[in-house]
Amino acid sequence: MNNGFTDTFGRRIDYLRLSVTDQCDLRCFYCMPQGFDQYQEPENWLTFDEIERVVAAFARLDIGRIRLTGGEPLLRRDLARLASRLHALPGIDDLSLSTNAVRLAKQATALRQAGVSRLNISLDTLRPERFKAICGGKLEKVLAGIEAARNAGFGPIKLNMVVMRGINDDEIEAMVDYCAERDLTLRFIETMPMGETGRAASDRYVDLGEVRARLEQRYTLLPGVMPGAGPARYVQLAGSETRIGFITPMSQHFCESCNRLRLGVDGAVYPCLGDEGKVELRPLLRGGANDQQLTDALLTALRNKPERHDFHSDQHQVVRFMSMTGG
Ligand code: 5AD
Ligand code: SF4
Repeated sequence: MNNGFTDTFGRRIDYLRLSVTDQCDLRCFYCMPQGFDQYQEPENWLTFDEIERVVAAFARLDIGRIRLTGGEPLLRRDLARLASRLHALPGIDDLSLSTNAVRLAKQATALRQAGVSRLNISLDTLRPERFKAICGGKLEKVLAGIEAARNAGFGPIKLNMVVMRGINDDEIEAMVDYCAERDLTLRFIETMPMGETGRAASDRYVDLGEVRARLEQRYTLLPGVMPGAGPARYVQLAGSETRIGFITPMSQHFCESCNRLRLGVDGAVYPCLGDEGKVELRPLLRGGANDQQLTDALLTALRNKPERHDFHSDQHQVVRFMSMTGG
């Protein structure tokens, strides 16, 4: 197990969120605008060889936990092949995937065999018409993807629900029950003002302290732990294996325990979700830089990681959408 890289503020950075595409086959209204098509040109996507080289460089800095994200990562052709290449690199000891699960039913087994062990799946509602309204797709595909993932032996599988007032906040208990019946972990997320879409959705913001209080009226919640948890705080549902996490970027800062960097599909390293700073690796990768120069660029990104973000400030509005940096 690696220990991670200790940054300027004493945080242990051991986790890279790696976006393999900025495209998505859904249009969740809080994430991407309807009809959005300003995607990166394919020639700007890092190739599998380039991704492998960057991930190896991160691993040499003791950053050995990788999460494949998007956009929607299952849209990247041959994702399982990339996963097995990354899984085989020395120093990579955890490979996970975040997906909307629309295409998961077909790919679950291959991804599990490629060494992906943990899965996060976005799911905001269990009602087909609502799913269509929020995300613009077919719920049945997602539910089939979840079943395929359970059969393929991923563990844990976490469902992420963005809680929005008047949109899906009446389904909080239904989601808990759905997860408890299937031994899934459920995580509630507060809307974040990322891009114009995220700022619009923030009208529907629900403080998760309120959600937790509501759950306590119906369930017994015990203190819970999750290894390598990062920003989520967990409770355990009494009498079941199910854990419930609360991700509260707005109501409670968690920057002091932030453990991650992000890599965009175009090779930009983002030290922080709430900040426009980035370090471009593509010019180095395509300009003949050696491994030391690549490592120096990663160290610059690590040094630039701010102490905290401030989504509440009007001066530092983040203009990129979540799909560009992979949640
Ligand atoms: N606020 C909160 N979460 C968001 N996501 C995307 N946009 C936002 C936003 N504005 C998260 C959702 C989704 C994942 C892919 O990204 O959790 O499940
Ligand atoms: Fe796609 Fe995820 Fe954004 Fe929804 S939240 S549009 S599934 S990237």
